[in-house]
Amino acid sequence: MSLLNNINQNNVPNHLAIIMDGNGRWAKQRGLLRSIGHEGGTKSVRTTVETCAKLGIKNLTLYAFSTENWNRPKLEVDTLMKLLVSSLKKEIKTLQENNIKLNAIGNLTNLPNKVQKELKEVISKTSTNTRMTLTLALSYGSREEIIQAVKKISEKVKNNIISIEAIDESIINQHLYTQDIPDVDLVIRTSGEHRISNFLLWQIAYAEFYFTDVLWPDFSEENLYEAIVSYQQRERRFGKTSEQISK
Ligand code: FPP
Repeated sequence: MSLLNNINQNNVPNHLAIIMDGNGRWAKQRGLLRSIGHEGGTKSVRTTVETCAKLGIKNLTLYAFSTENWNRPKLEVDTLMKLLVSSLKKEIKTLQENNIKLNAIGNLTNLPNKVQKELKEVISKTSTNTRMTLTLALSYGSREEIIQAVKKISEKVKNNIISIEAIDESIINQHLYTQDIPDVDLVIRTSGEHRISNFLLWQIAYAEFYFTDVLWPDFSEENLYEAIVSYQQRERRFGKTSEQISK
């Protein structure tokens, strides 16, 4: 029986963020090139996006390429960029059919022109979609995101646009790449690694974490249900006591 039956559709995470890991190991286990692992990974992206939309998750963020990933061999970086362009071209239809809005966060100007162009096009074409916002973290690093926010805020303080006293969580939120996206409720990381790798450090302050040994190309609809069921069994206290929460 599918775990879908165990999910309370009224308590799905409002914002799910996924660190998609294990494409390389998946390929290696099969004696295949790493690029084939990434291709397998795009299939899981598709399934995950559609399943999240079906479940009523309003925000899904996928860590597709970190600032540190630029240090990988050129051939692998080129493959990932090509995959992105082809996936964007191919999946615009799925996004439209499912009423999904595309968004991207990161140092996007570092991406090859072709990727930037395709991204801009899909973002603009899907900008009025309302069912779910799919955010791709590309050339993304959370520390870099925080640094650029501090710089922008400092500039505004210098120009008397905001006062130092007015700086609060909301002002910081407004200057992060994630701007209008709510805090993360659940982070999933695949492939048995238990680390956060510079992903959404500010936004995960009260997030729940779910780690699975499943490698990303194998991550299925049922695996996602498993993560959501686990999330729904947690008591999120936000610093309060259990008694306060149950009131
Ligand atoms: C981690 O596996 C995965 C990545 C660095 C890239 C993720 C990219 C995709 C799933 C494909 C394209 C994305 C979209 C949004 C269409 P790894 O290479 O670090 O695996 P390893 O740790 O086993 O080597």
